[in-house]
Amino acid sequence: MFFDSGIGGLSVLKAVQAALPNAPIVFAADYAGLPYGTKTEAEISARVPALLGRLVERYRPRLVTIACNTACTIALVHVRAALDVPVVGTVPAIKPAAEATQSGVIGLLGTDATVRQTYVDKLHKDHAPNMKLLRHAAPELVSAAEVKMRGEQVDPAVYVRAMAGLMEQPDGARLDVVVLGCTHFPLVEDELRAAAPHVTFVDGAAGIARRINHLTMDHTWPVDPEEGTFVTTGPAAALNTLLPALSGFGLTRISSL
Ligand code: DGL
Repeated sequence: MFFDSGIGGLSVLKAVQAALPNAPIVFAADYAGLPYGTKTEAEISARVPALLGRLVERYRPRLVTIACNTACTIALVHVRAALDVPVVGTVPAIKPAAEATQSGVIGLLGTDATVRQTYVDKLHKDHAPNMKLLRHAAPELVSAAEVKMRGEQVDPAVYVRAMAGLMEQPDGARLDVVVLGCTHFPLVEDELRAAAPHVTFVDGAAGIARRINHLTMDHTWPVDPEEGTFVTTGPAAALNTLLPALSGFGLTRISSL
């Protein structure tokens, strides 16, 4: 089971489906709670474990992937304590960014909630201690990804503004690697690259796919009646314009929690 506040988790699902094409997927999106990025730590810590508890009870997955940096940097510990299935988390890919940078200046684009987390301080200290980490909250990119996945146009100024938020900081001119620290952002990576062609973008999807592959190595995947379900906490009718994008991921059964 994949979980995100919205469509962002598809960027992680893409890498996982490439590695594990036969694994049955249920994708849960908390549209009634979107966006997470503007919520408080207390709200996320209360909401996410409770919701995942209900989802696990309903779908009985073998493994849960929280494909949301905001939820994980705040509530991963609480979720693991609340569930009795393995939980794989998504946190900003600062380690691969530290390995990729030439200049020693890394950028982090995330939600407001993610960029202020002490979890990010720890990732910086553990994996990039001698490097400069510039952080910028880009909530506009969450809506841009949601809009793009519905096949609608997004004003390209949104992407220019997000990159300027990093590049205009002190040392921003030396920035060469940017961590897409929100799972919605890889869905608009081409547009961000067009706004800053000299930058390399990294995210955690490939690492998560490797981790899930490792954890499920011994599993066989029988046909699952819930396979291909996209479950939302909001009204199912609001997903109509997303159906073409979802069917590209084999998500063709829509359900409301
Ligand atoms: N996709 C989510 C993340 O990775 C959060 C987007 C939001 O709900 O603000 O952070």
